[in-house]
Amino acid sequence: MSPQILFLTFLGILLINGSQSANILAVFSCPVPSHLIVEISMAKVLAENGHNVTVITTLKPHVTHENINLIYIPLTKEEQKTQDSGLSSMVERDNSNMMTAVFRMRKELSFIFNKNRELMKDPRIQDLYENKDNKFDLVMLGYFFNSFQLGIAQKLKVPVVIATSMFQSEIFDIMLGNIHAQAYVPTVSVSVEKGRPMNFAQRLANLITLGVFKTYMYLTETDNVEAYNELYGSDPAMPKYEDLNKNVSLIFFNSHALSEGPIRPNFPGAIEVGGIQIKENPDPLPKEIDNFLQNATDGAILLSLGSNVRGAFLKADIVQNMFNVLSKLKQRVIWKWENLDKIPGKSDNILYSKWLPQDDILAHPKIRLFINHAGRGGITESQFHGKPMLSLPVFGDQPANADKMVQDGFGLSMSLLTLEEQPFHDKIIEVLENPEYTQKVKAFSKLFRDRPLTARQSVLYWTEYVLRHHGAAHLQSPLVHMGFIAANNLDVYALLLSFIIVILLISKVVVKSLYRKLKGNTKKENNFGKAKKLKTK
Ligand SMILES: *[C@@H]1O[C@H](CO)[C@@H](O)[C@H](O)[C@H]1NC(C)=O
Ligand SMILES: *[C@@H]1O[C@H](CO)[C@@H](O)[C@H](O)[C@H]1NC(C)=O
Ligand SMILES: *[C@@H]1O[C@H](CO)[C@@H](O)[C@H](O)[C@H]1NC(C)=O
Repeated sequence: MSPQILFLTFLGILLINGSQSANILAVFSCPVPSHLIVEISMAKVLAENGHNVTVITTLKPHVTHENINLIYIPLTKEEQKTQDSGLSSMVERDNSNMMTAVFRMRKELSFIFNKNRELMKDPRIQDLYENKDNKFDLVMLGYFFNSFQLGIAQKLKVPVVIATSMFQSEIFDIMLGNIHAQAYVPTVSVSVEKGRPMNFAQRLANLITLGVFKTYMYLTETDNVEAYNELYGSDPAMPKYEDLNKNVSLIFFNSHALSEGPIRPNFPGAIEVGGIQIKENPDPLPKEIDNFLQNATDGAILLSLGSNVRGAFLKADIVQNMFNVLSKLKQRVIWKWENLDKIPGKSDNILYSKWLPQDDILAHPKIRLFINHAGRGGITESQFHGKPMLSLPVFGDQPANADKMVQDGFGLSMSLLTLEEQPFHDKIIEVLENPEYTQKVKAFSKLFRDRPLTARQSVLYWTEYVLRHHGAAHLQSPLVHMGFIAANNLDVYALLLSFIIVILLISKVVVKSLYRKLKGNTKKENNFGKAKKLKTK
């Protein structure tokens, strides 16, 4: 059977068993573009397959569809300013240490948290569950430390699935009931070559990182309890906050452990759809970019520092260093640059563009290198298309993403904040001229694409699965419902231990009395013997 026929058969099976068009409410209110891109790609799959998806956002999404009803509640000018200044101050600091960065970010992330919280008080949102004419079958929640928003699924009394732009990590253990196998599953910031056991130092670092994460989670959970109680606490029909995490049917992760690692034990509610935002078949490029690439006889480089790090946040001398190196290359360069009135410099081999179809450009055979800021999305796209990278990480998870990419052998990395001409030039040349980077990333690309269901098919299948069965509590790990003592079997160990102690005590008494008896007997015997001897005398 050809792949097309297989796919049609598969679709046919889905249609026969499939749910009818469902009303799905998607809460994607985190005002971070890289999150929205991934989350809304999942909503789009559902919309394309006939479901009626109502999406709540605080950013204007790039994706539109006739089956997507958008409730767009934008940031106010004031909020936009706060967010921009928060991001630019993050860019100015050296955040190469992930752990300190996480805690520093806590303050900055509180902006996002408070936005999410205010949003839930908006009359348009409250109307969704107060107006009885609305009928929803499922809630899909974009997760970013915002569990209190699970309350909306409880208000609507419908099952809930989580959509996250993050990869699977210990953050989600409380919802999945997953166990974190500290000895062999590295946490996010401990980079270990895939499939390799951790050495002693790595295991120690892993345990400490895990402790820091748990502390961080504890703090955000406290915020969540408070927000939940404020929003829903007055309604006696609502469950306690602690029970929300126990009511998640499944989680869509933006990862693919089979190709990316780390390999870990997983419960069935963990569904990996890494690469969901990537088109399986690229769209044709805009004419200007297409011509520019067609004529690139020595290949081309794509440079994009993502949507968080805008060109304007960067220091002028760093931009100058970058321009000086790039303008002297044989290769053509497509540079994503927001402010076209103030470009870094003019050069025949450089094309500036405010907005780029990054995914489609990376698919182009002329692209030989992708210079990025080590955002998850960009790295995944580059890996999907088998293109080597030079990463210039700045803050948040970027340094760790870059470390992992380098460890995997897909390219090189250097800090954007301290970028100098010579090392920048040398690293570009190394990645362009040493074929190993390309070979490794191409091999990865094959592994990443080889799945029983594509990322899109998985989102559709598993969402409809939850719809068909009105929730998927049966997928859940019983661990979700267990307390600390039971989860760690401490009561059983305690009982066994008491048994052993009792047995030891009893044996001690028995042995002692036997010993005494034996001693007594031999004494008697001796005495008897003596007596006999005396008699015979
Ligand atoms: C789709 O959802 C919107 C928003 O809840 C609702 O107004 C509309 O009637 C729904 N359409 C269908 C066909 O169910
Ligand atoms: C590409 O090359 C052709 C033929 O050499 C030329 O006519 C065209 O202007 C070039 N396009 C660009 C964008 O440089
Ligand atoms: C969520 O709670 C409802 C009502 O208590 C229950 O019927 C359902 O099975 C729960 N779902 C999950 C996934 O635990």
